[in-house]
Amino acid sequence: IPDDEEIQKEDNIRCLTTLGHFGFECFPYQLVNRSIQQGFAFNILCVGETGIGKSTLIDTLFNTNLKDNKSSHFYSNVGLKIQTYELQESNVQLKLTVVKTVGYGDQLNKETSYQPIIDYIDAQLEAYLQEELKIKRSFFEYHDSRVHVCLYFISPTGHSLKSLDLLTMKNIDSRVNIIPLIAKADTISKNDLQKFKSKIMNELISNGIQIYQFPTDDETTAQVNSSMNGLLPFAVVGSMDEVKVGKRMVRGRHYPWGVLQVENENHCDFVKLRDMLLCTNMENLKEQTHTQHYECYRCCRLQKMGFTDVGPDNQPVSFQEIYEAKRQEFYDQCQRQEEELKQRFMQLVKEKETTLKEAEKELQDKFEHLKRVQQEEIMKLEEERRQLEEEIIDFYKMKASSETLQTQVCTNTKKD
Ligand code: GTP
Repeated sequence: IPDDEEIQKEDNIRCLTTLGHFGFECFPYQLVNRSIQQGFAFNILCVGETGIGKSTLIDTLFNTNLKDNKSSHFYSNVGLKIQTYELQESNVQLKLTVVKTVGYGDQLNKETSYQPIIDYIDAQLEAYLQEELKIKRSFFEYHDSRVHVCLYFISPTGHSLKSLDLLTMKNIDSRVNIIPLIAKADTISKNDLQKFKSKIMNELISNGIQIYQFPTDDETTAQVNSSMNGLLPFAVVGSMDEVKVGKRMVRGRHYPWGVLQVENENHCDFVKLRDMLLCTNMENLKEQTHTQHYECYRCCRLQKMGFTDVGPDNQPVSFQEIYEAKRQEFYDQCQRQEEELKQRFMQLVKEKETTLKEAEKELQDKFEHLKRVQQEEIMKLEEERRQLEEEIIDFYKMKASSETLQTQVCTNTKKD
Protein backbone atom coordinates (compact mmCIF):
# COMPACT_ATOMS: atom_id res chain seq x y z
CA ILE A 1 0.00 0.00 0.00
CA PRO A 2 1.56 3.36 -0.97
CA ASP A 3 1.87 5.75 1.93
CA ASP A 4 -0.10 9.00 2.19
CA GLU A 5 2.69 11.17 0.87
CA GLU A 6 3.16 9.03 -2.25
CA ILE A 7 -0.56 9.17 -3.02
CA GLN A 8 -0.51 12.93 -2.46
CA LYS A 9 2.43 13.35 -4.84
CA GLU A 10 0.96 11.07 -7.49
CA ASP A 11 -2.64 12.27 -7.52
CA ASN A 12 -2.27 15.59 -5.82
CA ILE A 13 -4.91 14.49 -3.31
CA ARG A 14 -5.14 16.24 0.05
CA CYS A 15 -4.81 13.73 2.88
CA LEU A 16 -6.30 14.45 6.32
CA THR A 17 -5.38 12.72 9.53
CA THR A 18 -8.39 11.33 11.37
CA LEU A 19 -9.42 13.03 14.57
CA GLY A 20 -11.45 10.22 16.11
CA HIS A 21 -11.66 6.45 15.90
CA PHE A 22 -13.56 4.63 13.20
CA GLY A 23 -14.40 1.03 12.42
CA PHE A 24 -13.60 -1.83 14.74
CA GLU A 25 -10.62 -0.04 16.22
CA CYS A 26 -13.30 1.56 18.44
CA PHE A 27 -13.99 -1.71 20.17
CA PRO A 28 -11.53 -1.21 23.09
CA TYR A 29 -13.04 2.23 23.75
CA GLN A 30 -16.51 0.71 23.90
CA LEU A 31 -15.26 -1.73 26.51
CA VAL A 32 -13.61 1.01 28.56
CA ASN A 33 -16.76 3.16 28.47
CA ARG A 34 -18.99 0.27 29.45
CA SER A 35 -16.70 -0.76 32.32
CA ILE A 36 -16.58 2.80 33.62
CA GLN A 37 -20.36 3.00 33.49
CA GLN A 38 -20.78 -0.32 35.30
CA GLY A 39 -18.12 0.42 37.89
CA PHE A 40 -15.63 -2.06 39.31
CA ALA A 41 -15.69 -4.45 42.22
CA PHE A 42 -12.74 -5.72 44.19
CA ASN A 43 -12.74 -8.02 47.21
CA ILE A 44 -9.84 -8.15 49.65
CA LEU A 45 -9.39 -10.61 52.50
CA CYS A 46 -7.02 -9.47 55.26
CA VAL A 47 -5.71 -12.29 57.43
CA GLY A 48 -3.57 -11.39 60.41
CA GLU A 49 -3.38 -11.25 64.16
CA THR A 50 -5.43 -8.76 66.15
CA GLY A 51 -3.86 -5.30 66.06
CA ILE A 52 -1.26 -6.16 63.40
CA GLY A 53 -2.25 -3.14 61.29
CA LYS A 54 -4.86 -4.51 58.85
CA SER A 55 -7.28 -1.58 59.04
CA THR A 56 -4.54 1.04 58.93
CA LEU A 57 -2.99 -0.50 55.83
CA ILE A 58 -6.33 -0.70 53.99
CA ASP A 59 -7.03 2.95 54.90
CA THR A 60 -3.58 3.94 53.65
CA LEU A 61 -3.96 1.94 50.43
CA PHE A 62 -7.26 3.60 49.51
CA ASN A 63 -6.34 6.93 51.11
CA THR A 64 -9.56 7.02 53.03
CA ASN A 65 -10.75 6.51 56.56
CA LEU A 66 -12.94 3.43 56.45
CA LYS A 67 -13.74 3.80 60.16
CA ASP A 68 -13.31 0.47 61.82
CA ASN A 69 -13.51 -0.36 65.52
CA LYS A 70 -10.66 -2.19 67.20
CA SER A 71 -11.20 -5.87 67.95
CA SER A 72 -10.83 -7.58 71.30
CA HIS A 73 -8.19 -10.23 72.02
CA PHE A 74 -10.69 -12.41 73.91
CA TYR A 75 -12.81 -14.13 71.28
CA SER A 76 -13.09 -17.88 71.74
CA ASN A 77 -13.16 -18.43 67.96
CA VAL A 78 -11.82 -16.73 64.86
CA GLY A 79 -14.45 -14.63 63.09
CA LEU A 80 -14.64 -12.46 59.99
CA LYS A 81 -15.74 -8.87 59.66
CA ILE A 82 -17.14 -7.97 56.23
CA GLN A 83 -17.48 -4.36 55.13
CA THR A 84 -18.38 -2.97 51.73
CA TYR A 85 -17.54 0.56 50.61
CA GLU A 86 -18.37 2.58 47.50
CA LEU A 87 -15.26 4.55 46.53
CA GLN A 88 -14.66 6.93 43.67
CA GLU A 89 -11.44 8.17 42.07
CA SER A 90 -12.00 10.65 39.21
CA ASN A 91 -14.80 9.00 37.16
CA VAL A 92 -14.02 5.43 38.25
CA GLN A 93 -16.30 3.87 40.86
CA LEU A 94 -15.11 0.98 42.95
CA LYS A 95 -17.21 -1.28 45.12
CA LEU A 96 -14.63 -2.45 47.61
CA THR A 97 -15.32 -5.33 49.99
CA VAL A 98 -12.85 -5.74 52.83
CA VAL A 99 -13.03 -8.89 54.92
CA LYS A 100 -10.86 -8.92 58.05
CA THR A 101 -10.15 -11.69 60.48
CA VAL A 102 -11.24 -11.06 64.06
CA GLY A 103 -9.50 -12.80 66.94
CA TYR A 104 -7.00 -14.55 64.64
CA GLY A 105 -4.14 -16.06 66.65
CA ASP A 106 -5.72 -15.21 70.04
CA GLN A 107 -6.91 -18.71 71.00
CA LEU A 108 -4.78 -21.21 72.94
CA ASN A 109 -5.81 -23.99 70.60
CA LYS A 110 -5.13 -22.69 67.11
CA GLU A 111 -5.82 -25.96 65.30
CA THR A 112 -9.05 -24.82 63.67
CA SER A 113 -8.25 -21.10 63.39
CA TYR A 114 -8.07 -21.29 59.59
CA GLN A 115 -11.41 -23.10 59.16
CA PRO A 116 -13.67 -19.98 59.21
CA ILE A 117 -11.41 -18.43 56.55
CA ILE A 118 -11.71 -21.50 54.29
CA ASP A 119 -15.45 -21.63 54.89
CA TYR A 120 -15.84 -17.98 53.88
CA ILE A 121 -13.77 -18.32 50.68
CA ASP A 122 -15.63 -21.50 49.68
CA ALA A 123 -19.02 -19.97 50.43
CA GLN A 124 -18.33 -17.13 47.98
CA LEU A 125 -17.15 -19.57 45.29
CA GLU A 126 -20.23 -21.73 45.93
CA ALA A 127 -22.55 -18.72 45.63
CA TYR A 128 -21.06 -17.94 42.21
CA LEU A 129 -21.38 -21.59 41.13
CA GLN A 130 -25.03 -21.67 42.21
CA GLU A 131 -25.70 -18.52 40.18
CA GLU A 132 -23.97 -20.10 37.21
CA LEU A 133 -26.05 -23.27 37.50
CA LYS A 134 -29.35 -21.37 37.56
CA ILE A 135 -31.53 -21.51 34.46
CA LYS A 136 -32.30 -17.80 34.74
CA ARG A 137 -28.97 -16.20 35.53
CA SER A 138 -28.56 -12.53 36.29
CA PHE A 139 -24.83 -11.88 36.30
CA PHE A 140 -25.42 -8.28 35.39
CA GLU A 141 -26.89 -7.50 38.83
CA TYR A 142 -25.01 -10.26 40.65
CA HIS A 143 -22.55 -9.01 43.26
CA ASP A 144 -19.53 -11.21 42.80
CA SER A 145 -18.15 -11.67 46.33
CA ARG A 146 -15.36 -14.09 45.44
CA VAL A 147 -12.12 -13.11 47.17
CA HIS A 148 -9.70 -11.63 44.63
CA VAL A 149 -6.72 -11.33 46.92
CA CYS A 150 -5.71 -12.38 50.41
CA LEU A 151 -3.27 -10.01 52.08
CA TYR A 152 -1.56 -12.22 54.64
CA PHE A 153 -0.05 -10.13 57.46
CA ILE A 154 3.07 -11.71 58.95
CA SER A 155 4.23 -10.56 62.40
CA PRO A 156 7.52 -8.63 62.20
CA THR A 157 9.33 -11.05 64.52
CA GLY A 158 12.45 -11.12 62.30
CA HIS A 159 12.58 -14.79 63.19
CA SER A 160 10.41 -17.11 61.09
CA LEU A 161 6.83 -17.85 60.17
CA LYS A 162 4.59 -19.18 62.92
CA SER A 163 3.02 -22.61 62.49
CA LEU A 164 -0.40 -20.94 62.26
CA ASP A 165 0.86 -18.86 59.30
CA LEU A 166 2.06 -21.96 57.49
CA LEU A 167 -1.07 -23.96 58.29
CA THR A 168 -3.44 -21.23 57.13
CA MET A 169 -1.55 -20.38 53.95
CA LYS A 170 -1.20 -24.08 53.08
CA ASN A 171 -4.96 -24.51 53.41
CA ILE A 172 -6.01 -21.49 51.39
CA ASP A 173 -3.36 -21.30 48.67
CA SER A 174 -5.43 -23.32 46.19
CA ARG A 175 -8.51 -21.18 46.87
CA VAL A 176 -7.21 -17.61 46.70
CA ASN A 177 -4.34 -15.40 45.50
CA ILE A 178 -2.07 -14.86 48.51
CA ILE A 179 0.19 -11.82 48.79
CA PRO A 180 2.29 -12.14 51.94
CA LEU A 181 3.15 -8.92 53.78
CA ILE A 182 5.49 -8.22 56.65
CA ALA A 183 3.33 -5.98 58.81
CA LYS A 184 4.63 -3.03 60.87
CA ALA A 185 7.93 -3.29 59.00
CA ASP A 186 9.16 -0.12 60.73
CA THR A 187 9.82 -2.27 63.81
CA ILE A 188 12.50 -4.31 62.07
CA SER A 189 15.99 -3.19 61.02
CA LYS A 190 17.12 -3.08 57.37
CA ASN A 191 19.58 -5.97 57.76
CA ASP A 192 17.14 -8.14 59.68
CA LEU A 193 14.44 -7.40 57.13
CA GLN A 194 16.40 -8.87 54.21
CA LYS A 195 17.24 -12.01 56.18
CA PHE A 196 13.61 -12.25 57.37
CA LYS A 197 12.30 -11.94 53.81
CA SER A 198 14.50 -14.73 52.47
CA LYS A 199 13.73 -16.90 55.52
CA ILE A 200 10.01 -16.50 54.88
CA MET A 201 10.34 -17.30 51.16
CA ASN A 202 12.43 -20.42 51.94
CA GLU A 203 9.85 -21.58 54.44
CA LEU A 204 7.01 -21.04 51.98
CA ILE A 205 8.86 -22.99 49.28
CA SER A 206 9.86 -25.84 51.59
CA ASN A 207 6.27 -26.19 52.77
CA GLY A 208 4.96 -26.18 49.20
CA ILE A 209 2.87 -23.03 49.70
CA GLN A 210 1.88 -21.30 46.46
CA ILE A 211 1.72 -17.53 46.73
CA TYR A 212 0.48 -15.22 44.00
CA GLN A 213 3.11 -14.45 41.37
CA PHE A 214 2.80 -11.16 39.52
CA PRO A 215 2.34 -12.23 35.86
CA THR A 216 5.26 -11.99 33.48
CA ASP A 217 3.49 -12.99 30.27
CA ASP A 218 2.52 -9.44 29.30
CA GLU A 219 5.54 -7.62 27.89
CA THR A 220 4.36 -4.21 29.12
CA THR A 221 4.49 -5.34 32.75
CA ALA A 222 6.79 -8.37 32.60
CA GLN A 223 9.91 -6.56 33.74
CA VAL A 224 8.41 -4.70 36.67
CA ASN A 225 6.38 -7.72 37.74
CA SER A 226 9.31 -10.11 37.70
CA SER A 227 11.44 -7.70 39.75
CA MET A 228 8.55 -7.31 42.23
CA ASN A 229 8.22 -11.09 42.52
CA GLY A 230 11.79 -11.04 43.80
CA LEU A 231 10.90 -8.55 46.54
CA LEU A 232 8.11 -10.59 48.13
CA PRO A 233 6.99 -10.57 50.90
CA PHE A 234 6.47 -6.81 50.88
CA ALA A 235 7.51 -5.06 54.06
CA VAL A 236 4.71 -2.58 54.67
CA VAL A 237 3.93 0.27 57.02
CA GLY A 238 0.55 1.90 57.30
CA SER A 239 -0.42 5.30 58.62
CA MET A 240 -3.06 7.91 58.00
CA ASP A 241 -1.11 10.53 59.96
CA GLU A 242 0.23 13.55 58.09
CA VAL A 243 3.77 14.41 59.12
CA LYS A 244 5.81 17.46 58.10
CA VAL A 245 9.06 16.61 56.26
CA GLY A 246 10.89 19.74 55.18
CA LYS A 247 8.17 21.84 53.58
CA ARG A 248 5.97 18.92 52.58
CA MET A 249 3.24 17.10 54.45
CA VAL A 250 3.55 13.34 53.94
CA ARG A 251 1.86 10.25 55.30
CA GLY A 252 4.14 8.75 57.88
CA ARG A 253 4.89 7.69 61.41
CA HIS A 254 6.72 10.10 63.68
CA TYR A 255 9.33 8.64 66.04
CA PRO A 256 11.71 10.29 68.53
CA TRP A 257 14.56 9.53 66.11
CA GLY A 258 12.83 10.59 62.88
CA VAL A 259 9.98 10.15 60.47
CA LEU A 260 9.08 7.02 58.54
CA GLN A 261 7.49 8.05 55.26
CA VAL A 262 4.98 5.48 54.15
CA GLU A 263 5.30 6.46 50.48
CA ASN A 264 9.09 6.58 50.47
CA GLU A 265 10.41 3.48 48.72
CA ASN A 266 13.62 3.61 50.75
CA HIS A 267 11.62 3.31 53.94
CA CYS A 268 9.21 0.47 53.11
CA ASP A 269 7.48 -1.44 50.28
CA PHE A 270 4.08 0.26 50.67
CA VAL A 271 4.21 1.99 47.25
CA LYS A 272 5.30 -1.26 45.59
CA LEU A 273 2.33 -3.05 47.11
CA ARG A 274 -0.08 -0.30 46.09
CA ASP A 275 1.23 -0.23 42.53
CA MET A 276 1.22 -3.98 42.14
CA LEU A 277 -2.18 -4.43 43.76
CA LEU A 278 -4.17 -1.54 42.39
CA CYS A 279 -2.38 -0.10 39.35
CA THR A 280 -0.77 -3.05 37.60
CA ASN A 281 -2.35 -6.33 38.59
CA MET A 282 -5.87 -5.75 39.89
CA GLU A 283 -7.39 -7.15 36.70
CA ASN A 284 -5.02 -10.10 36.70
CA LEU A 285 -5.94 -10.90 40.31
CA LYS A 286 -9.60 -11.00 39.29
CA GLU A 287 -8.80 -13.08 36.24
CA GLN A 288 -6.74 -15.56 38.28
CA THR A 289 -9.59 -15.82 40.77
CA HIS A 290 -11.94 -16.78 37.96
CA THR A 291 -9.74 -18.91 35.73
CA GLN A 292 -7.66 -20.67 38.36
CA HIS A 293 -9.29 -20.75 41.81
CA TYR A 294 -12.94 -20.73 40.79
CA GLU A 295 -12.27 -23.21 37.99
CA CYS A 296 -10.57 -25.56 40.44
CA TYR A 297 -13.47 -25.25 42.92
CA ARG A 298 -16.07 -25.74 40.16
CA CYS A 299 -14.29 -28.79 38.80
CA CYS A 300 -14.19 -30.47 42.26
CA ARG A 301 -17.82 -29.64 42.99
CA LEU A 302 -19.08 -30.92 39.62
CA GLN A 303 -17.03 -34.10 40.00
CA LYS A 304 -18.55 -34.60 43.45
CA MET A 305 -22.00 -34.17 41.89
CA GLY A 306 -21.05 -37.01 39.52
CA PHE A 307 -20.30 -35.04 36.36
CA THR A 308 -17.35 -35.98 34.22
CA ASP A 309 -15.99 -35.14 30.77
CA VAL A 310 -14.92 -38.71 29.88
CA GLY A 311 -16.52 -42.05 30.62
CA PRO A 312 -14.82 -45.21 31.97
CA ASP A 313 -13.87 -46.11 28.37
CA ASN A 314 -12.07 -42.75 28.06
CA GLN A 315 -14.67 -41.60 25.54
CA PRO A 316 -16.18 -38.13 25.88
CA VAL A 317 -19.50 -38.15 27.68
CA SER A 318 -22.14 -35.55 26.90
CA PHE A 319 -23.79 -33.48 29.60
CA GLN A 320 -27.16 -34.88 28.43
CA GLU A 321 -25.99 -38.51 28.95
CA ILE A 322 -24.71 -37.72 32.44
CA TYR A 323 -27.90 -35.90 33.26
CA GLU A 324 -30.04 -38.82 32.04
CA ALA A 325 -27.88 -41.34 33.94
CA LYS A 326 -28.08 -39.22 37.10
CA ARG A 327 -31.83 -38.85 36.68
CA GLN A 328 -32.27 -42.61 36.24
CA GLU A 329 -29.99 -43.25 39.24
CA PHE A 330 -32.02 -40.82 41.33
CA TYR A 331 -35.29 -42.36 40.13
CA ASP A 332 -34.06 -45.88 41.01
CA GLN A 333 -32.93 -44.66 44.39
CA CYS A 334 -36.34 -43.11 45.02
CA GLN A 335 -38.03 -46.36 43.99
CA ARG A 336 -35.79 -48.37 46.30
CA GLN A 337 -36.50 -46.00 49.16
CA GLU A 338 -40.24 -46.13 48.44
CA GLU A 339 -40.15 -49.95 48.44
CA GLU A 340 -38.17 -49.99 51.68
CA LEU A 341 -40.63 -47.58 53.26
CA LYS A 342 -43.59 -49.72 52.11
CA GLN A 343 -42.00 -52.88 53.58
CA ARG A 344 -41.25 -51.11 56.81
CA PHE A 345 -44.80 -49.77 56.95
CA MET A 346 -46.29 -53.24 56.37
CA GLN A 347 -44.07 -54.70 59.06
CA LEU A 348 -45.10 -51.98 61.48
CA VAL A 349 -48.77 -52.56 60.69
CA LYS A 350 -48.34 -56.31 61.29
CA GLU A 351 -46.53 -55.73 64.56
CA LYS A 352 -49.23 -53.32 65.68
CA GLU A 353 -51.97 -55.75 64.67
CA THR A 354 -50.38 -58.58 66.69
CA THR A 355 -49.98 -56.33 69.71
CA LEU A 356 -53.58 -55.17 69.45
CA LYS A 357 -54.86 -58.75 69.06
CA GLU A 358 -52.89 -59.83 72.11
CA ALA A 359 -54.26 -56.90 74.10
CA GLU A 360 -57.81 -57.73 72.93
CA LYS A 361 -57.41 -61.39 73.97
CA GLU A 362 -56.06 -60.33 77.35
CA LEU A 363 -59.05 -58.04 77.84
CA GLN A 364 -61.48 -60.77 76.79
CA ASP A 365 -59.90 -63.23 79.26
CA LYS A 366 -60.07 -60.62 81.97
CA PHE A 367 -63.72 -59.96 81.13
CA GLU A 368 -64.59 -63.69 81.18
CA HIS A 369 -62.84 -64.10 84.51
CA LEU A 370 -64.68 -61.15 86.02
CA LYS A 371 -67.97 -62.47 84.64
CA ARG A 372 -67.32 -65.85 86.26
CA VAL A 373 -66.41 -64.27 89.58
CA GLN A 374 -69.54 -62.13 89.43
CA GLN A 375 -71.79 -65.13 88.68
CA GLU A 376 -70.27 -67.06 91.59
CA GLU A 377 -70.88 -64.04 93.79
CA ILE A 378 -74.52 -63.84 92.64
CA MET A 379 -75.05 -67.58 93.29
CA LYS A 380 -73.49 -67.22 96.75
CA LEU A 381 -75.80 -64.30 97.53
CA GLU A 382 -78.81 -66.22 96.18
CA GLU A 383 -77.95 -69.12 98.50
CA GLU A 384 -77.57 -66.78 101.45
CA ARG A 385 -80.94 -65.15 100.62
CA ARG A 386 -82.61 -68.53 100.38
CA GLN A 387 -81.18 -69.56 103.76
CA LEU A 388 -82.24 -66.28 105.24
CA GLU A 389 -85.79 -66.71 103.95
CA GLU A 390 -85.93 -70.23 105.37
CA GLU A 391 -84.74 -68.88 108.71
CA ILE A 392 -87.43 -66.17 108.59
CA ILE A 393 -90.12 -68.78 107.85
CA ASP A 394 -88.83 -70.92 110.71
CA PHE A 395 -88.82 -67.89 112.94
CA TYR A 396 -92.46 -67.04 112.08
CA LYS A 397 -93.46 -70.66 112.60
CA MET A 398 -91.78 -70.69 116.01
CA LYS A 399 -93.38 -67.36 116.81
CA ALA A 400 -96.84 -68.65 115.89
CA SER A 401 -96.49 -71.85 117.90
CA SER A 402 -95.19 -69.89 120.88
CA GLU A 403 -98.22 -67.57 120.67
CA THR A 404 -100.57 -70.55 120.49
CA LEU A 405 -98.86 -72.08 123.51
CA GLN A 406 -99.11 -68.81 125.40
CA THR A 407 -102.88 -68.55 124.65
CA GLN A 408 -103.44 -72.11 125.88
CA VAL A 409 -101.57 -71.40 129.12
CA CYS A 410 -103.70 -68.29 129.77
CA THR A 411 -106.94 -70.16 129.09
CA ASN A 412 -105.94 -72.98 131.49
CA THR A 413 -105.06 -70.50 134.24
CA LYS A 414 -108.46 -68.74 133.95
CA LYS A 415 -110.26 -72.13 134.21
CA ASP A 416 -108.40 -72.90 137.36
P1 GTP B 1 -7.97 -5.24 64.62
O1 GTP B 1 -8.92 -4.95 63.50
O2 GTP B 1 -8.41 -4.67 65.93
O3 GTP B 1 -7.54 -6.65 64.68
O4 GTP B 1 -6.63 -4.41 64.35
P2 GTP B 1 -5.88 -4.17 63.00
O5 GTP B 1 -5.10 -5.37 62.60
O6 GTP B 1 -6.83 -3.64 62.01
O7 GTP B 1 -4.82 -3.07 63.45
P3 GTP B 1 -4.99 -1.49 63.37
O8 GTP B 1 -4.87 -1.03 61.98
O9 GTP B 1 -6.19 -1.10 64.13
O10 GTP B 1 -3.67 -1.04 64.15
C1 GTP B 1 -3.43 -1.37 65.47
C2 GTP B 1 -2.36 -0.44 66.02
O11 GTP B 1 -1.15 -0.63 65.29
C3 GTP B 1 -2.73 1.03 65.90
O12 GTP B 1 -2.29 1.69 67.05
C4 GTP B 1 -1.93 1.50 64.69
O13 GTP B 1 -1.55 2.86 64.76
C5 GTP B 1 -0.70 0.61 64.76
N1 GTP B 1 -0.12 0.40 63.46
C6 GTP B 1 -0.80 0.15 62.31
N2 GTP B 1 0.05 -0.02 61.30
C7 GTP B 1 1.30 0.14 61.83
C8 GTP B 1 2.62 0.08 61.27
O14 GTP B 1 2.81 -0.14 60.09
N3 GTP B 1 3.66 0.26 62.13
C9 GTP B 1 3.48 0.50 63.45
N4 GTP B 1 4.54 0.67 64.19
N5 GTP B 1 2.27 0.56 63.99
C10 GTP B 1 1.19 0.37 63.20
